[in-house]
Amino acid sequence: MAHLAIEGVSKIFGQTFAVQDFSLEVGDGELVCLLGPSGSGKSTLLRMIGGFEQPTGGSIRIDARDVTNLPPERRPTGMVFQSHALWTHMDVFNNIAFGLKLRRLAKAEIRQRVEEALALVGLVDYGRRAVTQLSGGQQQRVALARSLVLEPKILLLDEPFASLDQHLRERLREEVRDIQQRLGITTLFVTHGQDEALALADRIVVMRDGRTEQAGPPSVIYREPQTAFVAGFIGSMNFVESEIRNGVCMHPFFGFHIPVSDGPVTLAMRPEAIEVSPDGRPAIATVHRVTDFGTHKIVDIDLVDGTRLKAMAAPGEIIRAGMVVAFNCSHVFVFRDNALIHQSAGHDAATAVQPLFSA
Ligand SMILES: Nc1ncnc2c1ncn2[C@@H]1O[C@H](COP(=O)(O)OP(=O)(O)OP(=O)(O)O)[C@@H](O)[C@H]1O
Ligand SMILES: [Mg+2]
Repeated sequence: MAHLAIEGVSKIFGQTFAVQDFSLEVGDGELVCLLGPSGSGKSTLLRMIGGFEQPTGGSIRIDARDVTNLPPERRPTGMVFQSHALWTHMDVFNNIAFGLKLRRLAKAEIRQRVEEALALVGLVDYGRRAVTQLSGGQQQRVALARSLVLEPKILLLDEPFASLDQHLRERLREEVRDIQQRLGITTLFVTHGQDEALALADRIVVMRDGRTEQAGPPSVIYREPQTAFVAGFIGSMNFVESEIRNGVCMHPFFGFHIPVSDGPVTLAMRPEAIEVSPDGRPAIATVHRVTDFGTHKIVDIDLVDGTRLKAMAAPGEIIRAGMVVAFNCSHVFVFRDNALIHQSAGHDAATAVQPLFSA
């Protein structure tokens, strides 16, 4: 168990800020997911915590000890890199034992700890295999075991399952979560997958251009995005550009009362907040496509002005491409200049639309 404190850390490569004045505290045993687009600084941040990259400024402390200038081997951290950097000339056992040998542990202890690590990742009896004879998922487990065997206080995982198929990825991430909770290891997990972050994390940090865009528990990131960027990055979201005049949205189909100052706005609605009804009035949208996910249906609808929206329907709903439907919107986020300025529940697109139609 360990506490990690990152304070005002920056990294400049030439002219680019890869990480910019970044601060984050990770509590004992907490699992934090770093999520963000390509190039947002996730790997650079992780590498600085692991000691593989020197910060341009700021400090990194682990349990109140400043590790900013320590080399990787003197930090209580273990890192699993994105491309599984196993040594192909060694078998599984020796890959995992490597770090223990560097620490000059006794042979018997090395053997015992490697066997424990193999058991932990479900690879008992694989010790003598060549790593080239393992599947991608097994190789990733070896990479994980190689980090865990050193009993790190802090585990750093950089997209460890990115190259695996979805099924295996889901299984391995659940295993990682189990192991992480059982051992109580403070963990930073970088991922591209928003599903992965929502499923795994105690807390998500959404990064953008080397900074924190928003940090919070998964449900808060999903339900209360503070910026349009976060709203669009996590989960599916419909965006509609419009303008507010005298507290009313000027969009022909979203004539909501929105108590904000005049000016441009971006309306954002989750598919699950848009309900379509084949028998409703006014029928103003045409169903473009229906995708059946078993648990629910995603319905793409086209409004007459060309706006396309993703709505959600119950699995039993009879709805087909070409149908003309009404829709109802139960929750709207309102953004201006990327910032959330208002959100409201209970809007009814049908009633909101009427006055504008008759005007
Ligand atoms: N060694 C380096 N030299 C120069 N620029 C670098 C170096 N490493 C990273 N960068 C730059 O720093 C920025 C952040 O890179 P980083 O690898 O941290 O992003 P990332 O969020 O991990 O992206 P991805 O999701 O693609 O892995 C990028 O603009 C990248 O080009
Ligand atoms: Mg990366």
